Amino acid sequence: MFIALVLISVILWMVYEQCRMWRVLRRSAQPASRRRALPLLGHAYLLFGSDADRMRRLDAMGREAIEKGGIVATWFGRTLYTITSDAVVAELALRQCLAKTAMSDILRHLCGNGSVVAPIEIWRSRRKLITPIFSTKHLRDSFATFSRKSAELSERLRPAAGRGTLSIAKYLSTYTLESVCGESNEKDRSEFLCAFEEFCRIALLRMSNPLLAVEAVFKLNPNYTSYYRSIKVMWDFIDEIINSKKGLRKNKNANTNEDIKHPKSFMELLMCAPGAGGAPGGGGTPRAVELREEMLVLALAGGDTSAVAASFLCCLLAHHPRVQDRLYEELLEVLGERTSIEVEDLPKLKYMEAVINESLRLYPPVPNIIRKVPKDITLPSGATLLADSALLVSVRSVQRSAAQWGRDADLFDPDRFLRGDTRHPHAFIPFGLGPRNCVGYRYAIMSIKTVVAALLRDYKFLPPSPPPPSPLSGDTDKLFSLKFDIMLRDMGGFKLKLESRRI
Ligand code: HEM
Repeated sequence: MFIALVLISVILWMVYEQCRMWRVLRRSAQPASRRRALPLLGHAYLLFGSDADRMRRLDAMGREAIEKGGIVATWFGRTLYTITSDAVVAELALRQCLAKTAMSDILRHLCGNGSVVAPIEIWRSRRKLITPIFSTKHLRDSFATFSRKSAELSERLRPAAGRGTLSIAKYLSTYTLESVCGESNEKDRSEFLCAFEEFCRIALLRMSNPLLAVEAVFKLNPNYTSYYRSIKVMWDFIDEIINSKKGLRKNKNANTNEDIKHPKSFMELLMCAPGAGGAPGGGGTPRAVELREEMLVLALAGGDTSAVAASFLCCLLAHHPRVQDRLYEELLEVLGERTSIEVEDLPKLKYMEAVINESLRLYPPVPNIIRKVPKDITLPSGATLLADSALLVSVRSVQRSAAQWGRDADLFDPDRFLRGDTRHPHAFIPFGLGPRNCVGYRYAIMSIKTVVAALLRDYKFLPPSPPPPSPLSGDTDKLFSLKFDIMLRDMGGFKLKLESRRI
């Protein structure tokens, strides 16, 4: 009798849920996904399985949005998730929807109220805190760090040149992390990078499974200890930087010759920002937390994204020798007799910029941007983004939509950025758009240009051995085994070979 009652209740609840979903969908007038939504899970089950499966299904959802005219309605748990591949919808929504969704709460275990995940009220003050450190002056100063660190990277790679396949991502992660954080102990740095990898792996499990998002359920999961251990390793790394910089600053007056020779790292700039814990007159526990959170955001948002972007780019160059040769010629032309690149050279590297953009178009390190919808927003198509639903902008699909990029949208063709083809101004959004866009995009482009120029000057990039299936069809995705944790990555480890250009 009891079992029968439970069964009837479950069936009634399922019917109620189904009706609720139909009602919501009708009100939104959005095209529903052809994939079946399960009670309780919605489409979240599509994120189960291997990394490759998850990536394939996410891409398929993005493609479905393209087929359906730019949006498709899906369910994550009980929440309506509109997926869009449309530049117009992306622009409209990212300007108006500034809050992050419950999915970001998982990242808040690591970054607290760091700008990238903070609730709107806190985000506004955090954005004010970090924006000044991205001023043109500080960016020019950062070039000295990029230049020094990329020369060191090039030297570090020397023993690997001519010696078979290597994984370039590991080297580039060290470069980007050191550029943002300044010097750090090699063991701590590699522990930090491993901890972040582990955190991303488990965070993704939690984001993909609404049940694991519940802390009480997650406590029973075998990954629980490792999750919080990795967070602690990252916090310790940042605290160590804060403490060492505090010690240094006590012994040094601002703007000494030392500062001019080695301009402040981004971490130091943040510590001196008005209102941050390290500023004169600052201090106190909340300020220290604020500083730690934003430093962590800078280390992760700033370090890993740029390393992933530069890694995709180097691998694409290895497989496209003609593009690589043209890039090298441009570099020689700009450098003339000089051997090292100057900050004034960067804007002259036009083809380099087109190659970076094309790589970011096909392989955006942040392939999805997720926001909470604050109020009903009517779209030009007549469909509505409903208040309290969520929106997933599939950056990868927006940037591969044939409507904007033509029938050859999947091909690697940097010239498309030089031809001046007409397209929607927001058909290219690797750094997001609107008030909550990437605050570090100019920094990222400078950093990538500098390191790629330094490596290209010293080495030729070659495909790994054995090379992956030939991309003769033009589909560069065959070059990579893509996965998506918090970022887009190559499970193959971004492999390539280097040949020294020095005789
Ligand atoms: C190729 C490299 C990079 C890519 C593709 C990238 C991409 C993005 C994207 C798409 C967002 C917006 C996320 C959203 O709308 O929810 C974002 C936010 C952010 N990025 Fe970047 N980023 C890169 C490099 C950097 C660098 C180098 C820094 C700093 C040194 C940085 C700092 C930030 C911060 C602080 C935010 C949060 C902004 C806010 O919420 O107000 N990023 N990034």
